[in-house]
Amino acid sequence: MNPKIQIFDTTLRDGEQAPGYSMNLDEKVRMALQLETLGVDVMEAGFAVASPGDFASVKAIAEAVRSSSVCSLARAMEKDIDASAEALVPAARPRIHTFLATSDLHLKYKLHMSRTDCLRQIRRAVAYARRRCPEVEFSAEDASRTDANFLCKAIETAIAAGASVVNIPDTVGYSTPDEFGALIADLMNRVKGVENVIVSTHCHNDLGLAVANSFAGVRAGARQVECTICGIGERAGNAALEEIAMGLRTRRDAYRGLSCGIRTEEIARTAHLLSTITGVRISPSKAIVGANAFAHESGIHQHGVLSKAETYEIMTPESVGMKQTELVLGKHSGQHALESRLKDLGYDLDAERVAEVFAAFKRLADRKKQITDRDLVALAESRVASRGTPAREWRLESFVVNSGNHMSATAQVTLSRDGRTVQDAAIGSGPIYAAFRAIEKIIRHRFVLEDYRIEAVTEHRDALGEVLVKISDAKGSYRGRGVSTDVIEGSILALLVAVNRMLER
Ligand code: KIV
Ligand code: ZN
Repeated sequence: MNPKIQIFDTTLRDGEQAPGYSMNLDEKVRMALQLETLGVDVMEAGFAVASPGDFASVKAIAEAVRSSSVCSLARAMEKDIDASAEALVPAARPRIHTFLATSDLHLKYKLHMSRTDCLRQIRRAVAYARRRCPEVEFSAEDASRTDANFLCKAIETAIAAGASVVNIPDTVGYSTPDEFGALIADLMNRVKGVENVIVSTHCHNDLGLAVANSFAGVRAGARQVECTICGIGERAGNAALEEIAMGLRTRRDAYRGLSCGIRTEEIARTAHLLSTITGVRISPSKAIVGANAFAHESGIHQHGVLSKAETYEIMTPESVGMKQTELVLGKHSGQHALESRLKDLGYDLDAERVAEVFAAFKRLADRKKQITDRDLVALAESRVASRGTPAREWRLESFVVNSGNHMSATAQVTLSRDGRTVQDAAIGSGPIYAAFRAIEKIIRHRFVLEDYRIEAVTEHRDALGEVLVKISDAKGSYRGRGVSTDVIEGSILALLVAVNRMLER
C-alpha cells in the first residue's frame, strides 16, 4: 500500500465553525497561502452555499492557491453542489466534498429519511457532483455510529457513483482507537471498489481521542487524514494537524514507514498566524506548538537536555520551526535591515506598510532596550490588519487622558482622516473607556465593544503591550490589534484598526 498519507486541512471550514475563530476574506486567504506553504495536500476552504461571504472566500482561495487542492463542502443536494462548483471554477485542483448522515439516529431525527432514500440521495448527489467537478469526496456523517452493514452499502454507493475519496467521520468524537481502527479495517475488507479510492478519517475530539483515532484509522489502511491547525473545530475540535504530522515524523517505526508531505518547519509559523489572525492564544501546554512544548523547567531535565538533548527531547524545536527569540535589531538599524528581517519572518509588505512599521519600530527603539522577533511580529501584524485605503483611514494624532481613583476618567482624542483633523473628549469609568467614547463621537458611528484583551509581548518591564479588541455594529464584527509600550495608546490603535475595517465595509 502507498505509504503516503494525504493531509486534508479543514481549519477554514470545520475549524472556522468554532466560536471565536471566524475570519474575514483577507484573513482566510492569508491563512490559505500559509497552509499551502505548509504543504497540505487538500484544504477545505469553506461551505460555499452557506452565505455570500463563504462563497466569496472559497472563490478567492481557489484563485490564490495553486499547489494544494481546494475543496468546498456541500450537503448532498444540487444547490449546494452548484454553489461549490461555481466557487471552485478558478481552482487549479478543485474538489467537491459532499456529505450525508448515515446513522439511524440522524436519518430518523434529523433527516426524516429511510435508509433506501439515503442511498438514493448519495447516488444522485455524488453523480451530480462528479459531472461538475473532476474530484469528488463523499462523507458519511456520523459514520462511527452507523450500522456497519449499512455504512458499507453507503460507501459502495458513493464509490459506484464516482467518489474518489470516501471519508469516515467520527462526527461526535464517540469512537475509541480500537473501534475506529476496526471500522476502517472492516471497510477496507468488505467495500466493493475500495481499492480504487482513498479512505479518509475525520475525527472529532470530544473524548480527547481525535489524533489517536486518526492514527488507528491510518494503521488500518486510511490514506487521508482530515485535521485542523491546533485541533480547532466544532465543540472540542478536530484532530490536530501538527500532532499528526509530527507523530508520523517522530514515530515512523510505530506507523510502519508512513509519511506525509507537511513541511514541519512551517508548523509553528502556521499555528502562530492562526492565533494572530483570530486573537485566540495557543495554550502553553499545547503539544508541538505551545510555549512550553520544548521548555525544560526542572533541574534534572535541564541537566539531561544539556548533556544530551534526546534524554528529554523526542523532537527538536527547529523541526517544527520554533526558534529561540533572537535579539535582532537595534535603534541604529536601517529600513533595509528591518525589511529583510520582516521577510524572514514571513511578512512581504508593500513599501508603504514597511515605512509604517519602520516608523513604529523607531518609536519603539526609543522606549525599549531590546527589540525581538516577537516585537517585530506584533508591529507588523498591527499594520497588516489594516488593509484599507490609507488616506481614508482614521489615524491617531494625539491623546490626553486624566484618571485617578477618586474621579471619573476623561480623555481627549485627536484623529485625522483625508487631511482633516477632528478632536473630541469624553468621560468614562476608566481612561480606555473614556478614549473609546471620544473616538465613537469623532467617527459618528456607534459600536459595541465585544471583547478587549491585553497581553505583554515579551517579558521585561519595558515590554510591548499587545491589545486585541473586537467591536460590532448591525452589519458584523471587526477585530483590531494594536501594540505600544503604553497600554492606552495600544488600545486606541487597536480600536482604530477595528473601526477602519467597520467603516470600510
Ligand atoms: O464532523 C463531520 O461529520 C463533518 C462532515 C461534514 C465531514 O464535519
Ligand atoms: Zn467535522
